[in-house]
Amino acid sequence: MKCKMIQGSPRVLPASEVDIHALVELFNDAFSRYYVELKVTAESLSTLVYREDIDTASSCVALLGELPVGVAFLAVRGQRGYICGMGVRQDHQGKGIGDLLMRAVLHNASTLNLRDVTLEVVDANFRAIRLYRKFGFVRFRDVGVFLCERNRSVAPPEGVRIGAVGVRSVAGLSRAFNEMLPAWQNQVESILKFPARLGALVAHADGQALGYVVYGMAGGNLMVVDFAASGRLSPERRRHAASALLDQAWQRVQPPKGRAFNIPLGGYQEQAMQDCGYELTLRLQEMVLCLE
Ligand SMILES: CC(C)(COP(=O)(O)OP(=O)(O)OC[C@H]1O[C@@H](n2cnc3c(N)ncnc32)[C@H](O)[C@@H]1OP(=O)(O)O)[C@@H](O)C(=O)NCCC(=O)NCCS
Repeated sequence: MKCKMIQGSPRVLPASEVDIHALVELFNDAFSRYYVELKVTAESLSTLVYREDIDTASSCVALLGELPVGVAFLAVRGQRGYICGMGVRQDHQGKGIGDLLMRAVLHNASTLNLRDVTLEVVDANFRAIRLYRKFGFVRFRDVGVFLCERNRSVAPPEGVRIGAVGVRSVAGLSRAFNEMLPAWQNQVESILKFPARLGALVAHADGQALGYVVYGMAGGNLMVVDFAASGRLSPERRRHAASALLDQAWQRVQPPKGRAFNIPLGGYQEQAMQDCGYELTLRLQEMVLCLE
């Protein structure tokens, strides 16, 4: 792989050695012309680090002199890694810093013996996609951001009842009902970080759980964090159970709007979102790099 010449000589430090306020300023500069508004504060960045299991000692910051110019956050769960935000300061893009950071963070990932590293990237972000491809990442699934301004009601399938449960009790259902893990920020590990802030509903028939939805509130709106229905159901019933769960979450909150981030596209979950009046507002690729 070629290395580009960078003005001055940047050095890479673990993010844990960089002041949080400097990280906030760097992150907000790097994402200031992004596809969606992405702005962090010291508080929201600390929450993100905790909720998404960002390993700050293995995350990398590039500095030119004393100025932090780029960051790649690496989150770790067991042998799974996740690039949880990567950005280079506007004035320093296109100078090889992204390349340098990716090399450094993947070195840390292999030192940690991670099996794979995943990330999400906006489908239209061709610069970032090109960078990731260069390092061997491949697209494995598309996910979408959804917005609902007018909910369409969906009654549960015949014989199915939907009731509230504690968020902790959906952990096993998430593992049982998802053929592929949900996107990183919708996984059980994230959900269980702030269980008191979230609600959960489970659909039952004949004493058996058929599906679940986890939801919360963000800025006065409904936030669908994760939902799934059992793969043992027929495709129609699976979609129907998922739609009814989404509808119930809406009915309980009666929000002005509903949102959902990084829901897998091309299957029953996307169909269920559409059934309830959610519209796709942003398409992202999930990419993976296998390290073994
Ligand atoms: C995407 C980003 C991290 C890349 O960092 P960078 O320092 O600008 O990239 P580099 O100069 O190291 O270039 C690395 C590779 O990225 C790709 N790339 C960078 N700039 C590019 C451009 N203008 N056009 C096409 N590809 C480009 C190329 O593959 C390049 O390698 P190559 O020149 O050998 O082909 C940076 O542009 C950025 O922070 N963008 C805004 C935030 C963002 O989109 N983050 C990614 C979120 S998933």
